[in-house]
Amino acid sequence: MKANPKPSILDITKNNEYEKYLYKCLAPMPFRKYRKRHEYLKIAIPKGFRKKLLIFNREVIGQIEYAPAEASGFPISGDKVVVMNCIWVLRKAKGHNFGKQLFADLMKSEKSASGFATVALENHWSPWMKKWQMEKFGFKSVDSVSVMHKLKHKEERFKIHLMWLPTKKNSKPPTLSKQKLLDGVNFCTAHPLYHPEKAKLREIFEKC
Ligand SMILES: CC(C)(COP(=O)(O)OP(=O)(O)OC[C@H]1O[C@@H](n2cnc3c(N)ncnc32)[C@H](O)[C@@H]1OP(=O)(O)O)[C@@H](O)C(=O)NCCC(=O)NCCS
Repeated sequence: MKANPKPSILDITKNNEYEKYLYKCLAPMPFRKYRKRHEYLKIAIPKGFRKKLLIFNREVIGQIEYAPAEASGFPISGDKVVVMNCIWVLRKAKGHNFGKQLFADLMKSEKSASGFATVALENHWSPWMKKWQMEKFGFKSVDSVSVMHKLKHKEERFKIHLMWLPTKKNSKPPTLSKQKLLDGVNFCTAHPLYHPEKAKLREIFEKC
């Protein structure tokens, strides 16, 4: 793919034309208004949730999703902290600064934030939300918990990190409820920490 210095970044939070991307993201999954996502969006959008797509040659090749901590997909708390639920650039479009452009757009849009937080993984079997990738945006780990999945890749330990990037002098780092995190997340079926309903478990991870 040729690099385009000016791909467009479109906020689709309240744009019906792109509604399916509020649910299906870039994963090749059928569009379905699934219950958990619907419930999440209903609460999060009025509180400041945003989802943006990066479009190049009319093709959606990247996305970013974020919300104030209290409306985020993770059990993160902090004063004026904005949490990035997800950032994703398709593999075929990687390495053209698109990830950085999405992240710069987030920082520009949320100037009053005390800083940005996200969750990153270390030694997880999937290629998703890797710690080193989040470090490339300037995040640093400020807390972590070592866990195992109760149903998948049993006995494989991985670390979940709370990543933090302060943007104001004296910003107080956010906190992560490790206990709540053991339940997994509900905001996106494609997220590696997603808790599927069929699991019939309260906590999908155990500390180790
Ligand atoms: C993280 C991600 C968004 C970066 O997007 P990108 O467009 O490829 O990255 P950029 O071109 O903006 O580069 C950002 C930085 O990462 C570096 N980088 C990107 N890919 C790299 C690689 N494979 N190896 C080493 N460094 C790499 C770039 O050199 C750049 O660093 P620099 O500023 O020091 O030069 C992208 O790799 C991605 O989508 N990863 C998967 C994220 C994910 O799991 N999402 C959730 C799905 S559920």
